[in-house]
Amino acid sequence: MLQKYLKEKKKAVEDNLMELLGNYRDKYPEKLAEAMEYAVMNGGKRIRPILMYMICDLFEKNNCKSYDKIKEIAAALEFIHCYSLVHDDLPAMDNDDYRRGKLTVHKKYNEAIGVLVGDALLTEAFGIIANSKSLGDKNKIEIISRLSEYAGFFGMVGGQFADIESEHKKVEIDTLKYIHAHKTGKLLTAAIELPMIALNIENEKYQKMVEYSKLLGIAFQIKDDILDIEGDFEEIGKKSNDVENEKTTYPSIFGLDESKRLLQEYLEKARKIIVDDFNGNQLFLELTDYFGNRKK
Ligand code: IPE
Ligand code: IPE
Ligand code: MG
Ligand code: MG
Ligand code: MG
Repeated sequence: MLQKYLKEKKKAVEDNLMELLGNYRDKYPEKLAEAMEYAVMNGGKRIRPILMYMICDLFEKNNCKSYDKIKEIAAALEFIHCYSLVHDDLPAMDNDDYRRGKLTVHKKYNEAIGVLVGDALLTEAFGIIANSKSLGDKNKIEIISRLSEYAGFFGMVGGQFADIESEHKKVEIDTLKYIHAHKTGKLLTAAIELPMIALNIENEKYQKMVEYSKLLGIAFQIKDDILDIEGDFEEIGKKSNDVENEKTTYPSIFGLDESKRLLQEYLEKARKIIVDDFNGNQLFLELTDYFGNRKK
């Protein structure tokens, strides 16, 4: 069930991304548009935008019409995620040569282009939401406000900062938790919370879903840390370098076995929310398992 859903929605997300990228294609400066497309259309899993479709189906009982309300924020979030990856790979950050199985943007083009592609994707993402035809003004403002929180100082950027500051040293477990909850967790919370805002969900399930997203976010990064050690380049499309960079990760602090146990602990708590508060929704249960057993 999940595999079919992921495949189907990935296509929908990518069609939408292509349409938006079409606004820049062949416009001056053409090379910036080309590099933006290179950074976005390169085989990502699209898990964040797909989560938005899942939230829509969960609350709107598969009423496809409502995808109109989340299509644009889904693409905007993927723009921001892709920007975060382009900057994360820069020599000043993780210094990576491969992303999604292809050369990183700064390797394919150059560092200045890497910086500017990230800047453009981040900025355009907010423009996409502001210019949305399917969202009301009140929802737009709330979504933009939340997204800036989750992407910026109090979100992903704060987490990335702590990640870089924690290289080459042993840090407290609380710092490790801050890093994971922010650099990765906040954009996953955005993926779950923004569509609930777009759909005007205001019942008690809202907070339960936000709680679920936080557990998923930490689990997602623990799994990413594990895959950095155990993953296969052909599959994950990036070369392991956390050890080389002396990164603070779950495996570096707890070891591989304990990290795997902790991953399952987070996922178990996430599963419990789906069982207790969402009637054991099959798709979300399968997704929770996927966060533990994904190979890429
Ligand atoms: C990678 O994210 C960066 C992290 C936050 C761990 P994904 O694993 O979602 O990367 P793509 O988008 O599928 O390439
Ligand atoms: C980065 O975490 C999370 C981001 C905000 C981009 P990582 O540095 O571990 O992500 P990968 O392994 O390069 O995808
Ligand atoms: Mg990093
Ligand atoms: Mg990295
Ligand atoms: Mg990683």
